[in-house]
Amino acid sequence: MSQHLKTPAQLADEVRNLGPWHQAIQITPDFNTSDPYSATGELNRKQNQNISLLTTLYEGFLDTVRPLYPEGLAGKKFLDCACNAGVYCFAARELEAEFSFGFDIREHWIKQARWVQAHRTVSPTDRIEFDICDVYDLPRRGLPMFDLTMFKGIFYHLPDPITALKHASDLTREVLIFNTQATWGKPDGYLKPGSEDIRSLMSGAYGLNWRPTGPRTMIPVFSWLGFKEARLIFYRQNPTHPDLGRLEVVASKVEGLLDGLAQYPSLYDLPE
Ligand SMILES: C[S@@+](CC[C@H](N)C(=O)[O-])C[C@H]1O[C@@H](n2cnc3c(N)ncnc32)[C@H](O)[C@@H]1O
Repeated sequence: MSQHLKTPAQLADEVRNLGPWHQAIQITPDFNTSDPYSATGELNRKQNQNISLLTTLYEGFLDTVRPLYPEGLAGKKFLDCACNAGVYCFAARELEAEFSFGFDIREHWIKQARWVQAHRTVSPTDRIEFDICDVYDLPRRGLPMFDLTMFKGIFYHLPDPITALKHASDLTREVLIFNTQATWGKPDGYLKPGSEDIRSLMSGAYGLNWRPTGPRTMIPVFSWLGFKEARLIFYRQNPTHPDLGRLEVVASKVEGLLDGLAQYPSLYDLPE
C-alpha cells in the first residue's frame, strides 16, 4: 500500500509514537502533525512533554524568503541547521529548491523529519536529505556550498556559538537567516552566559549557552563573517519571560539581495 493511503487515524498513531513534536507540518490534505495534540483545536503542551508545538513556522518561512527570492528557490541549495522535524526544508522544496540539507544533533527529530518526508503528499519531498549531525561537525561533512542557510533556534544552545555560526556561514554563498533567543533589559553589546538542561529534547547537548544582550552584539560578528548587508527583522521582549527577548536578522554576502527587506532597519546602521 502506498504511504499516502494511510488514514488520518493511522497517521495520528504514528505521529503519537514519534512524539513529542515541535513543528506542525501538513502531511496530507486532511492531516497535520499537530492534529493528535489538538483534537479540540487547543494545543495541549501536557500531552507533548511540555514542548510548544508551533503552527506558524512553515508560512513564516515562506513570508521571510519570498521577498528575498521572488522567483522562488529554483537552482538554489538550502541548509537548515538544527532542522528539528524539517519544516523549513519542506517549505524550501515548495519554493522549488534544488537541494536541501537539514541536520539536527538528536535522532528523535531526524526520525520525525524522515517520517514527514515519507508521508507528506501535499508538496514534493524529493531533493531533501536529513542527517544526525552536531553543528560543530559541519566542516567534516564534505558538504557543498549552500545559497540560503537557516540558523534558527540554535545559537543560544551552544557553548561556542560564534564558531558554530562561522561553520554555517562558511558554507553559505548568499543569505543567512538568523533567529535566536536573546536577553532583554541589559545593555546591548554582550553575550550573556547561561546554563541549560541537556536532557531536554529542545536544548543543546553541552549545558553552557550564550544569549546576545541585543542586536548590536551581532554587528561585529556578521561583519567579521563576511556579510555585506544585514537587516534587523525584529528584536522583541518575551511576554511570559520578561528578561528574555527574541532577535531575527537576515544577512547577505551579496549586495542587493536584501532589497526586498528595505522596510527593516540595516543592522550595521543601528544607532548607539
Ligand atoms: C529550539 S529548537 C529549534 C528547532 C528549529 N530550528 C526551529 O526553528 O523550529 C533547537 C534544536 O537545536 C537542536 N540542537 C541543539 N544543539 C545542537 C547542535 N550542537 N547541533 C545540531 N543541532 C542542535 C536540538 O536538538 C533542537 O532540535
